[in-house]
Amino acid sequence: MKLPSNEVKKMLNQRGFLDLEVPKGIDLIGEIKRLKREKKAVLLAHYYQDAEIQELADYLGDSLYLAQAAEKVEADMIVFAGVHFMAETAKIINPTKKVILPDLNAGCSLADSCPPEEFKKFIDQYPGAHVVTYINCSAEVKALSTIVCTSSNAVRVIDSIPEEDTIIFAPDKNLGRYLIKETGRDMILWDGSCIVHEAFSFERIVTLAKEHPKAKFIAHPESESQVLEIADYIGSTSGLLNYVQKNTAETFIVATEAGILHEMKKRCPEKIFIPAPVEDETCACSECAFMKLNTLEKLYLCLEYENPEVVLSDSLIEKAKKPITRMLKLG
Ligand code: 13P
Ligand code: SF4
Repeated sequence: MKLPSNEVKKMLNQRGFLDLEVPKGIDLIGEIKRLKREKKAVLLAHYYQDAEIQELADYLGDSLYLAQAAEKVEADMIVFAGVHFMAETAKIINPTKKVILPDLNAGCSLADSCPPEEFKKFIDQYPGAHVVTYINCSAEVKALSTIVCTSSNAVRVIDSIPEEDTIIFAPDKNLGRYLIKETGRDMILWDGSCIVHEAFSFERIVTLAKEHPKAKFIAHPESESQVLEIADYIGSTSGLLNYVQKNTAETFIVATEAGILHEMKKRCPEKIFIPAPVEDETCACSECAFMKLNTLEKLYLCLEYENPEVVLSDSLIEKAKKPITRMLKLG
């Protein structure tokens, strides 16, 4: 039954997803594939999604790859299995498409750590500075930026800015510190961080590495400096994937969201991947609770009812698009 869109919006609960029962006994995966086909919807998924969602994706990748893929989508509908800022980015760069995501509340601690009003006051203290923002931020913060970057291309983006110019980098202070070391640029940092990557325990990683002396330790640059200092390789999720494929080691200790292990095991079934330990042994802190808000049930419902939808004003899209386009042009 096709419901009118105002009825569907009423069914969106305060927590940002459709509070409806999935019909009992249906083949969820088969139904999602059918809906995707019938509605000509393209499913973009991040490596941090649950394995079963990754398996359904038309495009699976890191933030940069998914932004590039979103730009090229010709179909009318993009279903984004990732977090809100990723779906928002897809809408900004391909605004004529309907962009839906399974749960509107799939946020990001980094994006939340940078409220646009406070950020505006912060950047106003440094007139003339280039504002480089990590893609993990809201559309409003992107609209205040000179250029956006992801963990895949951040060094290239910073290197594209004239050496004598001042740079503000936001919102991730850990990535910012890493980039200061990598590029030799003295940047002004916003004080934000990722709750998942800050949860890794330096002491427990050192102990684990001693138990696996031949293992390589690899980390995402959102991790804290102390952790990055002992890493054999630092890179974005796709960088980490490439590394484990090319490196001859048999065992890898991986400091990023645990969802990436699914694709690592698929590409290298003969290798062993150990999630880096976190401070609190009792919590699944290496899983991003925001990413994991998306479930197969919510994916099915969002495809069926084409909701929740990312809606942005034309003026915000226009302002936020410029810094993203600058990044995409750099490649
Ligand atoms: P990537 O750029 O590696 O996809 O990182 C996204 C992210 O959210 C890391 O926490
Ligand atoms: Fe945001 Fe961290 Fe989750 Fe990535 S892993 S989406 S940076 S909270």
